Amino acid sequence: MAANFSNPVVRWIDHRLPVFTFMHHELHEYPTPKNLSYWWNFGSLAGIALVIMIVTGITLAMHYTPHVDYAFASVERIMRDVNYGWLIRYIHMNGASFFFIVVYIHIFRGLYFGSYKAPREILWMLGVVILLLMMATAFMGYVLPWGQMSFWGATVITNLFSAIPLVGESIVTWLWGGFSVDNATLNRFFSLHFLLPFVIVGVVVLHIVALHRFGSNNPLGIDVKGPKDQIPFHPYYTIKDAFGLGVFLIFFSAFIFFAPNFLGHPDNYIPANPLVTPAHIVPEWYFLPFYAILRAIPDKLGGVLFMFGAIAVLFVLPWLDRSPVRSGQFRPIFKIFFWILVVDVVALTYLGGKPAEGIYVILSRIATAYYFIHFLIILPALSIFETPKPLPKSISEPVLGAGGGFAAATAAPREKV
Ligand code: HEM
Repeated sequence: MAANFSNPVVRWIDHRLPVFTFMHHELHEYPTPKNLSYWWNFGSLAGIALVIMIVTGITLAMHYTPHVDYAFASVERIMRDVNYGWLIRYIHMNGASFFFIVVYIHIFRGLYFGSYKAPREILWMLGVVILLLMMATAFMGYVLPWGQMSFWGATVITNLFSAIPLVGESIVTWLWGGFSVDNATLNRFFSLHFLLPFVIVGVVVLHIVALHRFGSNNPLGIDVKGPKDQIPFHPYYTIKDAFGLGVFLIFFSAFIFFAPNFLGHPDNYIPANPLVTPAHIVPEWYFLPFYAILRAIPDKLGGVLFMFGAIAVLFVLPWLDRSPVRSGQFRPIFKIFFWILVVDVVALTYLGGKPAEGIYVILSRIATAYYFIHFLIILPALSIFETPKPLPKSISEPVLGAGGGFAAATAAPREKV
């Protein structure tokens, strides 16, 4: 049904092209569970981070030169000579890190509250596709400044494909477009780094379409029972998302203006030199858990398989955790294992940044084993053996108090909005 707009121009356009009606339904009146906590801010924050990355990325591309002889110098020129080039680059550099922080929190929120469960399996799987695309984009972006870490990171990671039996070497040559990471590699990475964010936008649109099919899950993990459990998205969640954005921008600005290189590696300010290998080749922090898994396995092919397996396991998560209860709040044992998983992933992040020797390798192996045990053994077992706590009858029951009464009376005017 078309919404009734007061502005005649909007009405004229909407009659012919109902984009305003669409936006009104999906962003304004869109009924949303009334009990969403701040953990539900991270989806919209991820969307904003994506926009920030695209806008700053396009601006950087106007001044960047994707050639091995000029790339490093063109980035330095952006930093020194382009008006506010330093700002645009620092936003883009730190933006990648913040984008990953936000998305990792977004994922762990989903893991805790069982947001991957029916009927949101495809929504979740689209999320995993987005994560893979983000990783590919970030990896190729890091190569572009053509510093030492750019070059050696690209060399190490592309070489992983050589572990594939028979065709591995040919695949690596094909990826490189030559016999080493060189100009052809840099050029295609630039091309793909420009393209992939727009592919991500496309998948995010599908992600939102899938989300709006059944609406958001919520901290209680129970289904919405009717209008009493919901409030319109606008103004309640628009204002909450805006507040979350403000907090995000404070942290983001603190890094951009006071510690812009804190999350980066100093070696990337040395121009790429194929004849000198850095003492430690480390990826950006957001790849460290996967890097730790890669190096924990003594065999190269095995390491690659486990590393990709760590994400593949997320694809099938909705079928590994069969418990009918979504929210961790009502799953006493699941809750404990969830927090152990968080500690495990933080440990992997730490270990990925350490040299692959001695105690670090042993700990990486234990943490890697635990990661897979969590998803492949603990979650399926809990689905069978755990006794969940009783669920509330509806969302409004705990929000308004079981008997309704005063809380229900004061909340009543909200329903009219
Ligand atoms: C560019 C990256 C992403 C963007 C822009 C994005 C956007 C959003 C938005 C706006 C929401 C609704 C608000 C919210 O629940 O926080 C949402 C929900 C959700 N997202 Fe994402 N997302 C992204 C990545 C991911 C990833 C990587 C995953 C999982 C692997 C994921 C899984 C989910 C799930 C399961 C929900 C439903 C949550 C619920 O209702 O409880 N998303 N996403």
